[in-house]
Amino acid sequence: MNLEERIVAEHNEYRKMLEKLTQTGIEDADLRMEVYADLSMRVEAHERAEAQTLHAAIMKEEDVRIREIAMESLEQERIIRLLLVELRKIGVDDELWMPKLRVLKSIIENHFMVEEGLVIPAAKDLLDKQTMDRLSDEYEGRVKEGLMKMSSGPSII
Ligand SMILES: [Fe+2]
Ligand SMILES: [Fe+2]
Repeated sequence: MNLEERIVAEHNEYRKMLEKLTQTGIEDADLRMEVYADLSMRVEAHERAEAQTLHAAIMKEEDVRIREIAMESLEQERIIRLLLVELRKIGVDDELWMPKLRVLKSIIENHFMVEEGLVIPAAKDLLDKQTMDRLSDEYEGRVKEGLMKMSSGPSII
């Protein structure tokens, strides 16, 4: 899989998991805990790895209009990580959990649209295939590293 295929496949998995979570009720505490624990660790590792590879590469560009695309996306990633942590601190049986999850879901979905529609096309435009392949390997390594670090418990931001 190349970088684009890898990232889009992960986005699609997270879209499904978010959808599954919004179908749960306050009585589905175990399911919420199980799916959210998995989703939040994976999304956190995904966002960090993207910031360090895909976005970092675009941020090296001179054209400020190109860098703004990456900056907008990085800003969304920062908010996503904040919300992931906030939601972890709220009990899945708290009535605030679902409203907060819905906000997180809409920000994540919008973020995926920005990445798929703007960030990845910009990277493909600017970078040669060799660089994209190198970023893909680096991305994969960083996701694994992030997940390993969090296996003893998710980090705070
Ligand atoms: Fe992202
Ligand atoms: Fe992404």
